[in-house]
Amino acid sequence: MNSLRGRHFLSLQDFSLTEIAMLLDFARDLKQRQKRGEPHPLLAGKTLAMIFQKPSTRTRVSFEVGMWQLGGHALFLSSQELQMGRGEPIKDTAAVLSRYVDGIMIRTFKHSDVEELASFATVPVINGLTDLLHPCQVLADLLTVEEKLGKLAGLKLAYLGDGNNVAHSLLLGCTKVGMNIAVAGPENYWPLPEITAKARENAATSRCSVLITVDPLEAVKDADIIYTDVWASMGKEEEKAERKNVFAPYQVNDNILKAARPGALVMHCLPAYRGDEITAEVLEGEQSVVIDQAENRLHAQKALLALLMGN
Ligand code: CP
Ligand code: NVA
Repeated sequence: MNSLRGRHFLSLQDFSLTEIAMLLDFARDLKQRQKRGEPHPLLAGKTLAMIFQKPSTRTRVSFEVGMWQLGGHALFLSSQELQMGRGEPIKDTAAVLSRYVDGIMIRTFKHSDVEELASFATVPVINGLTDLLHPCQVLADLLTVEEKLGKLAGLKLAYLGDGNNVAHSLLLGCTKVGMNIAVAGPENYWPLPEITAKARENAATSRCSVLITVDPLEAVKDADIIYTDVWASMGKEEEKAERKNVFAPYQVNDNILKAARPGALVMHCLPAYRGDEITAEVLEGEQSVVIDQAENRLHAQKALLALLMGN
């Protein structure tokens, strides 16, 4: 039996290097089977409930299509339509859904809500993004980097901008697999100290480095990958104007590209705001792999679903 069966997927921090490697290997295998047109009904007859309290394009579609490709079924449940939106406790929702479905994916605000859901669910719970973390994104990103650059350990990823959920999951994911990571942003928007501390612990084990700085050029020096994300995440829309000024020096543009390794990959989890965190030229330029990243959400999450929910 695989060590992932029946587990929750709330944070990459809960998974070993070996388990992450197993997920990535299986994702590559499923991607090839899909491209060859080989059926792979590993979740025949199984159902995934998908709870969304925030909007989504990639997460919703990739999970739903992924379940279909695995021979199962996915249920889209918006929080407005669930009794949870009217105040039914998370623990009751978790217990009841567990009697109907084989797994629950949730996108919400508070990470503690996902932890609560997981503690009362008897089926695997998958974090489809919280204010704190976005582990499915980073799993797909690791798959993309490995495909493009042929390895993970020893590479350097520079993240510019807000110390948000994506930055947090990158800090944890990169340091688990031995990638050096540098995060540059205004000090008031740095990643949470507890996440940085965990990343530093991981880095000590996997022999890589963690740098948090205000200097974007210091961060991108010798970087193999430049990564950015929106300056105002979902739920922070009212801070958009203020953030636009504060984050301006961290825009990923031509000058930033020139300061990294020649040919460095440009990554963004999407959706992107051209002219804010990244210029249109760089987002759509030769070094950008953003659409491959989006595609790999499908393959990485299929591996995750099959290993957590499979027989
Ligand atoms: N990257 C990502 O999670 O996109 P969605 O918000 O469209 O799901
Ligand atoms: N940091 C962004 C990621 C969107 C996929 C947000 O939370 O809105």
